[in-house]
Amino acid sequence: MTIADLQNKILKLKESTDSCILAHSYMSRAVCEVADFVGDSYALAVKAKSAPNSNVIMCGVRFMAEAVKMLSPQKRVYLANPTAGCPMAEQMDKELIEQVKERFPGYAVVAYINTTAELKSVADVCVTSSSAVKICRAIPQKDILFIPDINLGTYVKNQVPEKNFKLLSGGCPTHARVGEGDVLKAKREHPQALLLVHPECVPDVVKHADYIGSTSGIMQYAERSDAREFIIGTENSIVEHLQFSCPDKKFYPLSKDLVCHNMKAVTLADVYNCLKGEGGEEMTMDEKLRLAAVRPVEKMMEYGG
Ligand code: 13P
Ligand code: SF4
Repeated sequence: MTIADLQNKILKLKESTDSCILAHSYMSRAVCEVADFVGDSYALAVKAKSAPNSNVIMCGVRFMAEAVKMLSPQKRVYLANPTAGCPMAEQMDKELIEQVKERFPGYAVVAYINTTAELKSVADVCVTSSSAVKICRAIPQKDILFIPDINLGTYVKNQVPEKNFKLLSGGCPTHARVGEGDVLKAKREHPQALLLVHPECVPDVVKHADYIGSTSGIMQYAERSDAREFIIGTENSIVEHLQFSCPDKKFYPLSKDLVCHNMKAVTLADVYNCLKGEGGEEMTMDEKLRLAAVRPVEKMMEYGG
């Protein structure tokens, strides 16, 4: 069987089961091609709410499927591959944040969307990489406890100097794999290329960037730019997607190691098995937890992307 054969089976099953397939931009080409929507974390959260289908299949990591379930409890939501977690989302627990909150009373807890539902339940507002600066500027509180990503937190703190930030030392193990040495090497090898990076990268990488943004932000920047060559400082699927959307431009990975093995765990066969009811995991959530966790996500949406 070819990739196209399997994709055709998926498209038929999608129709007959009234399913919507949502894919994060870190998915493979094969998965993106069968998805109803491909986007960054913010766009996926928005789309999940408006999708008319009774079933949603999330091709991404667990916190993304949890967010869909929170926003659409009446829908049946499936994580295409139950082993796809996000290590950053699980780095901190509710008890730790409650202790920190006691030390810093009056601070607004701003939680990156890459967190478990439990962690979201103690946050005031959620943010994604594309909405973090805007939301931290907009919230009324001057004091912000930003969790869990210290790199995104540092980037936001530098963009919003009028606020007072406390950061905890979590982060993405994928983006943490690249350092300043990779930047200097890539720039030496491709001196004409612009460097586009995700704010989950360490500050020593971010400081060299020509553009800093979410996965969709990076893609849009490269697609609209008049430049011809780009070094991509985020998960390497974005390099491949851009090679398809702009075949006449050149894209280089900042490092071959920028691979998220959790995202990469999701295959086309997982999507097929999930649609057949022979794979994936249906998301369930205690209603009390859901109500507490959805509040900061809805707040994020009120502030806009
Ligand atoms: P965005 O899609 O919001 O840029 O997030 C990147 C990421 O690491 C998702 O896990
Ligand atoms: Fe988590 Fe990083 Fe993978 Fe995104 S890229 S899912 S933040 S480990």
